[in-house]
Amino acid sequence: MSKRLEGKSMIVTGGASGIGLATVERCLKEGANLVISDLASSDGAAKAQALNGQGGRCIFIPCDVSSTEQVDHLIAETVRQFGKVDAVFNNAGIGGITPAVDYADADYLRIIDINLNGVFRVARAALRQMYMQGSGSIINCASILGTLGQTGTAAYSAAKGGVVNLTRTLALEAAPKGVRVNSIGPGYIDTPLLKDLPPEMRQGLVNLHPIGRLGRDEEVANAVLFMASDEASFVTGAHLLVDGGYAAGKS
Ligand SMILES: NC(=O)c1ccc[n+]([C@@H]2O[C@H](COP(=O)([O-])OP(=O)(O)OC[C@H]3O[C@@H](n4cnc5c(N)ncnc54)[C@H](O)[C@@H]3O)[C@@H](O)[C@H]2O)c1
Repeated sequence: MSKRLEGKSMIVTGGASGIGLATVERCLKEGANLVISDLASSDGAAKAQALNGQGGRCIFIPCDVSSTEQVDHLIAETVRQFGKVDAVFNNAGIGGITPAVDYADADYLRIIDINLNGVFRVARAALRQMYMQGSGSIINCASILGTLGQTGTAAYSAAKGGVVNLTRTLALEAAPKGVRVNSIGPGYIDTPLLKDLPPEMRQGLVNLHPIGRLGRDEEVANAVLFMASDEASFVTGAHLLVDGGYAAGKS
């Protein structure tokens, strides 16, 4: 059987850790050339070096998604090294738990700027390139908190809800240009983002998922792989929950 991303070039933002790194590993095995993009302070360069050759080529391009300049450079540098951009997983994100009334402007705006505006900046730059190519697939990482609210997540859930609806508008604009844009909504996934949770809080999160456990990063990666591949050629503007049944309701 041929590999599902053979010959494709793909960027994963926030690719040095968690869901992003799992997606890099999965898509490399399917034959894609991968850009791990992450903060310059991350260990993305070492991760890329370790993975290079395990399938397609893997390189690191530093980029803070809160900088338009760095985002535009990310796309240009990918084109310089790989010739094109077939898929982008817009995954970089940060968490934050604060009651709405206690939020300082700077903390609230920082979460919006990375989790929502960052997705826009990367999508805008990628779409400009993909329109020239006449093809491409963008997958935006939202969250179960793009569909449901949760106390303490005013900034995060506002950003993720924004990502879901931004995706729909981008999909409408991009469809006539041969480009697909979709979002995914992971439930709670066992990644470094959750590493500092006390055990009772962790169990509380497990209980939210009818499947009875937290998700694994490779389970999200599989959904991204599908969206990036030509198997999803008639899928655009969709929001795919990967949430162990969390949003289905209470049992
Ligand atoms: N873990 C979960 O339970 C969960 C659930 C739903 C959605 N998500 C979303 O999945 C995505 C990945 O989360 P994760 O759990 O793998 O977290 P993670 O902390 O393991 O990885 C996030 C990565 O993003 C990078 N990053 C942070 N700020 C950045 C910036 N300004 N520019 C570029 N990169 C930046 C970090 O360096 C890190 O490598 C996030 O968008 C998160 O909101 C996670």
